[in-house]
Amino acid sequence: MTKVTVIKLGGSTLGSHDTIVADLVTLQKRGILPVVVHGGADVVTDWLGRLGISTRFVQGLRVTDAETLKVVTAILAGLVNKELVAAIEASGGKAIGLSGIDGGLLEAKVKDTEMGYVGEITKVNPALLTAVIGAGFIPIIAPLSLQSPPQSGENGFVLNVNGDTVAGEIAAALGAEKLVFLTDVAGIFNSSGKLLSRLSPQEATILMASGVASGGMVPKIEACLRALSTVPVTRIIDGRVSHALIEEIEGRGRGTTIA
Ligand SMILES: Nc1ncnc2c1ncn2[C@@H]1O[C@H](COP(=O)(O)OP(=O)(O)OP(=O)(O)O)[C@@H](O)[C@H]1O
Ligand SMILES: [Mg+2]
Repeated sequence: MTKVTVIKLGGSTLGSHDTIVADLVTLQKRGILPVVVHGGADVVTDWLGRLGISTRFVQGLRVTDAETLKVVTAILAGLVNKELVAAIEASGGKAIGLSGIDGGLLEAKVKDTEMGYVGEITKVNPALLTAVIGAGFIPIIAPLSLQSPPQSGENGFVLNVNGDTVAGEIAAALGAEKLVFLTDVAGIFNSSGKLLSRLSPQEATILMASGVASGGMVPKIEACLRALSTVPVTRIIDGRVSHALIEEIEGRGRGTTIA
C-alpha cells in the first residue's frame, strides 16, 4: 500500500505523548497514512508489580506464564492502547485501537516452551488494516497475536509478541513506504558511542553479531532487515525529541537509516 508509514512507538517514548500524538494527527491531516505499533513493557512491569507478580526477561523477551499473559493483554490492548487512541481523538485525529488478535491480524506459534506464552509470528492477515486505513483511521496496534493453530487450555488462543517484530512484519506485509522506530536513544551507536547515520543490511548484521548492538536494539534491527524485503527505507530515530515524527516525514530527521 503506497503512502503507508509504519511507526513503532517504544514504551520509553510513550511519556512524550504531547508531540507524538500531535505529530500523528498532523501527518494524518497531510494525507500520510500512519500505522502505529506500540510497546509498553514498563507499564506492564509496573502493573505486574502492583499485583505481586514478578517478571523475568530472557534475551529481551518477557517470560510469560498464564497470569502474566492476562496482565500483558489487559495493559497493552487495554490501558496503553486506549490512552493512545483517546489522546489522538482528543487532538482531532481519527484512530482505532486494535491488537494483532483483532480480525486475525497476526498468527503466531509458541517460540520456545521455556518462554511460556511468547509467540513467533507465522502469518500476517492485513485485510482488517487495509479496511481501517481505507476508512480514514490510524490503526493503533498492541503487540499481541492469535495462537495458530489454537491450543487447548484457558490461555490457548493468545500469545505475547515483541512490538518491534510486529512492526517489521506488518510493514513487510503492507509493502509500506517506510518503517520508523521511535526509541529512547538517538539511533544506533558504534562501539565508540558514535551515531551511525546509515547502515547497509550487512553492516547492521555485523553490529548484532559483534554485540555492539544488543538488548532492545536487536529486535529493531532484525525487524528492519525483515521489512527490507518489500520496504525501501527503515529508520531508527530518537522519540524523545520534540516533533521527531514531523522532522522525520519532512526528511530533516537525524537517527539511523538501514537501507
Ligand atoms: N548499538 C546500540 N546503539 C543504540 N542503542 C543500543 C545499542 N545496543 C543496545 N542498545 C539499547 O537499545 C535500547 C533501545 O531499545 P529498548 O527496547 O530499550 O526501547 P524501545 O523498544 O524503544 O522501548 P520498549 O521496548 O519499551 O517498547 C537503548 O536504550 C539502548 O540501551
Ligand atoms: Mg524494546
